[in-house]
Amino acid sequence: MLNKMKLRKTSKGTESIEERIENIKKQELPKHIAIIMDGNGRWAGKRALPRIAGHHEGMKKVKPITRLANKLGIEVLTLYAFSTENWIRPKMEVDYLMKLPQEFLGAFLPELVEENVRVEMMGHREKLPEDTLKAVQKAMDDTRDNTGLTLNFALNYGGRDEIIHAVQNILEDIGTGKISNKDIAEDTFSNYLMSSKFQDPDLLIRTSGEIRLSNFMLWQLAYTEFVFTDVLWPDFSEEDLLQAIEEYQRRSRRYGGLKSEGKEK
Ligand code: FPP
Repeated sequence: MLNKMKLRKTSKGTESIEERIENIKKQELPKHIAIIMDGNGRWAGKRALPRIAGHHEGMKKVKPITRLANKLGIEVLTLYAFSTENWIRPKMEVDYLMKLPQEFLGAFLPELVEENVRVEMMGHREKLPEDTLKAVQKAMDDTRDNTGLTLNFALNYGGRDEIIHAVQNILEDIGTGKISNKDIAEDTFSNYLMSSKFQDPDLLIRTSGEIRLSNFMLWQLAYTEFVFTDVLWPDFSEEDLLQAIEEYQRRSRRYGGLKSEGKEK
């Protein structure tokens, strides 16, 4: 919980968590934060627990991070929950991961509705178990009119796969005369991606010390600021999120005056 977080000593004295949040809100916030939630297996391994215990603990972290992102006024929080490559994991682990959206939304959906959070999903629906899809669809339907944070689950999602599908759909639309090849530009291409409703992430966080993208939002991350942390996802705290945003703001400040030249989009 937020109030359990420590006071922080700054050059100006001690800063409470609420003051820290207010200070962060005074500066430019990332509108879209994307997170590669990595390290669940290692978290479990360190405790001699089965990998699924790490995934369960990881699922529990989604709640406080969503709450804080919403409180900060972040517009979109995209979470990489299951990749197109994750199907090759042992069946038992895959089955367990596929049950997490139901468990999470079963318990947390009323609060998401209440807190004005909108649930979205990007990824291929076809291969998802019916119950998983049903739970996500219900959450999307029940929160459709919410106007606060969008909590976007990347589920059965892969960046290369997304680009290939975009190309196929573009070719189809050229074939039917809906668009012409002259219409293809960066923004039209973005419209064919699964993230077309959202602006590109401003900040990408990857936990667990791995420094790679693992096929995540390859097109959309072209100008994104990356923050890599050694913290394993089940240990990722609200304080870690604040730290990542502060790091983003330091980088933004450095280039602020030259934004159009230095960090053009
Ligand atoms: C990568 O860690 C993590 C995943 C493949 C799954 C992430 C899913 C969650 C955190 C829960 C999602 C919650 C909802 C509500 C859908 P890893 O297993 O690769 O960890 P390791 O690299 O330490 O083995």
